[in-house]
Amino acid sequence: MTPVPSYLAHTYWWAYVHPNAVRLFERQWLVNLILWGNFARLRDAALDALGRRLNGRTLQIACVYGDLTGRLRARLTPGGSLDVVDVLRVQLDNLARKLLGDPRVGLIHGDSAALDLPDASYDRALLFFLLHEQPAEVRRRTIAEALRVVKPGGRLVIVDYHRPHRLNPLYGPMALVLRLLEPFALDLWRRELASWLPQEGLAVRKRTLFGGLYQIVTIDLPQGAKR
Ligand SMILES: C[S@@+](CC[C@H](N)C(=O)[O-])C[C@H]1O[C@@H](n2cnc3c(N)ncnc32)[C@H](O)[C@@H]1O
Repeated sequence: MTPVPSYLAHTYWWAYVHPNAVRLFERQWLVNLILWGNFARLRDAALDALGRRLNGRTLQIACVYGDLTGRLRARLTPGGSLDVVDVLRVQLDNLARKLLGDPRVGLIHGDSAALDLPDASYDRALLFFLLHEQPAEVRRRTIAEALRVVKPGGRLVIVDYHRPHRLNPLYGPMALVLRLLEPFALDLWRRELASWLPQEGLAVRKRTLFGGLYQIVTIDLPQGAKR
């Protein structure tokens, strides 16, 4: 039995937990609007960072509204597989409806901060707009867990908010929206994502998009990585 984390129940019930939330937000145009028209660009940047053709085992940590997971599945090679883990059954049920049953995709009920998955069991993992929703300590554990389950030589891709350039016209509006609705998100404006990693010396590459409002961070684990 995996409990619903308190930050989800208190801060994000309206976006993910309540069944009406799923009915409302499972519209790609709406998610795109929330991302200022950048959904497809961010989705495709995440997919391209994972790879054009995905062999082996891929892990998506947390469901995402819209067609990200469907497009991820479309990149699987014939022997490839995808697991998606989420802490809310309502989200996994919604994803199951979108995917219409596919033996290559496993849906796992679990918490990103304590994955019930073996060490070094995936070739790559994706965190798409999850970390900004989490309190600092949960975020730190989520990143550590994602790195734990990726194999040596594998890759973790993270897409999330980032502090925009001061001259970005969205700087003020976004700061206000995040302060009002997403109380943990401004952490990602204050600190580099790399500062949340459990160890130093990992190969981290960061690219920002849309005047710095979003970031895509790629972490390549060394072959034979020590954990
Ligand atoms: C990936 S985030 C946000 C994605 C993006 N805003 C979108 O358009 O959907 C939302 C998902 O994260 C899940 N989630 C939040 N905290 C989690 C946790 N600790 N473990 C697993 N899933 C979690 C929520 O249940 C929800 O399905």
